[in-house]
Amino acid sequence: MGKAFGAVAGVGAVGALYAMKKSWDPLPSVKAAGFTTVDMSVCTPNKLIVEKWRGKPIFILKKTAEMVAAQNEEQTARDVIVGGEHFLIAVGLCTHLGCIPAYRENEHGFLCACHGGEFDASGIDTKAPPPSPLVIPPFKITGTTVVLGEAGPEYSKMKESGITA
Ligand code: FES
Repeated sequence: MGKAFGAVAGVGAVGALYAMKKSWDPLPSVKAAGFTTVDMSVCTPNKLIVEKWRGKPIFILKKTAEMVAAQNEEQTARDVIVGGEHFLIAVGLCTHLGCIPAYRENEHGFLCACHGGEFDASGIDTKAPPPSPLVIPPFKITGTTVVLGEAGPEYSKMKESGITA
């Protein structure tokens, strides 16, 4: 009888601990509001990396020296410069209806297969129907890493000057 009571009490204690742990766990919204840290030093020029942040694909593209040299002012203004290298960092969702565009290395641009929209390597829309450039997510540069979800001074400047939505 004593043993049976002990077993029941043990199960009850485990249940109580589980319930307590559940209440300590962050809410799903807090988890979704998390940050993603990306080591930019591992990037290869003209090779697209896709990270995930808050459930969205994030395009990270290290530009080659030739790509940077050929850019106009508008394109350069969207570059995220880390360790002297130029990167595109953008939410990888087409600004038309939200498809994920594909990067075409030879063309140095993105094609959205859904309706044929195109973006250049800076995420600027170059062929309709996308109405606007790819959105640049909040980012903060720390050494050779970038924290997605945190607004550093470089991002704030882009936001204030209307470079990104
Ligand atoms: S969703 Fe990309 S062109 Fe329509």
